[in-house]
Amino acid sequence: MSDIRIDPDRLLADLDTLRSFGQCETGVVRPAYSEAELAARGWLAERLRAAGLEVAVDPVGNLFGLPRSDAPCLLVGSHSDSQPEGGWLDGAYGVIAGLEVARASRESGGPPIAVVSFQDEEGRFTTLTGSSVWAGQMSLEEARRLTDNAGRTLAEVCRQPQGLPAPVAVAPDRFRAFLEIHIEQGPVLDTSGEKIGVVESIVGIRSERLRFTGQQNHAGTTPMHLRHDAVQGFVRFAERLNARFAEVVTPATVWTVGHVAVHPNASSIVPGRVDFTVQWRDAETARLDAMTEIVRRTAEDVAGEMGLGHERSSYATIPPSACDPGLIEILAEAAEATAPGKWRRMPSGALHDAANAAHRMPMAMLFVPSKGGISHSFAEDTERADLVLGAQALARAAARV
Ligand code: GLV
Ligand code: MN
Ligand code: MN
Repeated sequence: MSDIRIDPDRLLADLDTLRSFGQCETGVVRPAYSEAELAARGWLAERLRAAGLEVAVDPVGNLFGLPRSDAPCLLVGSHSDSQPEGGWLDGAYGVIAGLEVARASRESGGPPIAVVSFQDEEGRFTTLTGSSVWAGQMSLEEARRLTDNAGRTLAEVCRQPQGLPAPVAVAPDRFRAFLEIHIEQGPVLDTSGEKIGVVESIVGIRSERLRFTGQQNHAGTTPMHLRHDAVQGFVRFAERLNARFAEVVTPATVWTVGHVAVHPNASSIVPGRVDFTVQWRDAETARLDAMTEIVRRTAEDVAGEMGLGHERSSYATIPPSACDPGLIEILAEAAEATAPGKWRRMPSGALHDAANAAHRMPMAMLFVPSKGGISHSFAEDTERADLVLGAQALARAAARV
């Protein structure tokens, strides 16, 4: 079997260009459907075309580069949107590495390979929005009704870049398997000095949006015992949640209160409202369920004790998923050939579009190290040599799938 030989300079040059869309300091600000994200997708479409692939975009904005033949083929890729403050490699690396592998395979007479950049992986609307719709985990109609933190619906902001063909559905069953390469986004490989992670499983996630409503009032004249202060309720909730979670979690379980909006957010006003998110992740569905029950009970208890109103709605539910055993072995062989003795098998604590692909086809993933284990931050980075090595391992595997 002949290997697919990638061009490291072309890979890195394309990655640098993608970084320029929405670049801010050393990172990017490129949330789904923003001007920067639209421009990036337009540029990516051109690169896919130049690589001899047929460009297709689906109604939610997932961008595909498809080989001309209809025969079922391998799909590789990731996402090109970012967190509100994101790193330059999160998702972008997997898309550009996929592009390079598909392009190099075509140049060397290798197997036809399709490329994808999924839309809104980073959860402006919900975690893995684009791939959830593509894989049939969520209907397009449901997705279009989702709102972001500013209250705008996906339907309101969904746009496609200029110059793309009209949106069409791209059926998952035209692909045989999905491979995604990603930065690790954690400290494991960087600490061990290893170069490649072969992912065996992806955690599950649940998250909810919550609101505590109190009585907005004057901060100088309202006696403490008469207040219905939404922020004090939020603080009590967060502390009690930590205490209650401690009874059910393992050292691998994580939870985050990542978004908090205080209304009206002024120093002389007893806050009338707090909107916030709680997100929790674990490898076991039963534990995720137990934590859901704790979140709901704690919100009810605190609201009752403090005379607050409370509302909540589910924001994301993605079950834990397992990578395909056969693909894991192909990736392990590629990792050993590319970085002998310097790789490991590992779980993913980050969510990835591969988790949705798993509902429709065999999937597996590779990781490369993240410097200092930092991600979802402008400080996110990876050694350029490690980016090349990872793409070489992906290319070796792609030739063998
Ligand atoms: C994906 O970005 C995640 O939050 O894991
Ligand atoms: Mn990502
Ligand atoms: Mn991310």
